[in-house]
Amino acid sequence: PIPVVVDCDTGVDDALALLFAVRHPGIDLRAVTCVAGNTDVDGVVRNTLTVLEQAGAGDVPVARGAGRPLIEAPRSARHVHGHDGMGDLGLPAPRRTPADVDAVTLLRREILASPRPVTLVPTAPLTNVALLLRTHPEVTRNIERIVFMGGAAGAGNATPVAEFNVWHDPEAAAILLTAGVPITMYGLDVFTRVVVPAADVRRLRASTEPGARLAGELLAHRPATPGSRPDDPHEDAGGLGDAGALCAVADPEGLTTHRLPVEVSLAPGPTRGQTVVDRRPRVGEAEIHGGAREQPLVDVGLDVDVERYVRLYLTTVEGPGDG
Ligand code: BDR
Ligand code: CA
Repeated sequence: PIPVVVDCDTGVDDALALLFAVRHPGIDLRAVTCVAGNTDVDGVVRNTLTVLEQAGAGDVPVARGAGRPLIEAPRSARHVHGHDGMGDLGLPAPRRTPADVDAVTLLRREILASPRPVTLVPTAPLTNVALLLRTHPEVTRNIERIVFMGGAAGAGNATPVAEFNVWHDPEAAAILLTAGVPITMYGLDVFTRVVVPAADVRRLRASTEPGARLAGELLAHRPATPGSRPDDPHEDAGGLGDAGALCAVADPEGLTTHRLPVEVSLAPGPTRGQTVVDRRPRVGEAEIHGGAREQPLVDVGLDVDVERYVRLYLTTVEGPGDG
């Protein structure tokens, strides 16, 4: 299996991602680190521990990370993820406490200790990852790839052009993009498209197996499409969200990527936090612009096999027999 470390802000769809990572036989989930984003970092730690316990993975190390972005003021997304950051589902409190080391220390330790290069999967603002890369740059020698949920080649969600995770801490995202390791961007262009049909969500919710049932509850909380209304016939359908980034780790063939230059807009004003993806044909560009500034190349997810990832998610979380 692929050694994977997830950095998250659990978060309804981060929870869906963790459930998948725990159950997929091709993924060896070695650690989970927590960062402020969907809710405050202590809430994220609590939610993460609870979800792992419910998924039967109470022994995966979990560490608390940054409580606020590098430069931006702290801010939360409670309007999307509920007061507890987990859809106010009333989940039990976790039985254990997090590791006695901080997220950056745990990330460094797990990455360097892994016998095989690690795939790092941030599904949250990139504060912890930026601090790791700046504090312990030697970790890059044992990182296979960073597959991050964030950014958008097209429309944003936090602002017209910026996606939440990048917008929340744009400087951190800029540090990630220049890390010098292979990077896959699982951005809004694909993120919003992978939706589990209502009938599957209902079946999961009725499952007697706690992990599958939790996935059903979480999916039922996720809006299928931005702006779907209560009378929407797809109301019960739920987006996989961050879990799609884990699908892209387990099954990269389901994601169509293009290797493109990407830059984060750090300027104050309406573009701050935008991932500027250069989709122009490359030929002759240097001549036209008198030698454009070199931007890091990122494998940007631009298309996704929706059915394939929905099937992958369902068979992983509920097992092949139940579906
Ligand atoms: C991202 O922001 C969070 O609300 C979700 O968990 C996801 O990681 C989407 O913009
Ligand atoms: Ca998230």
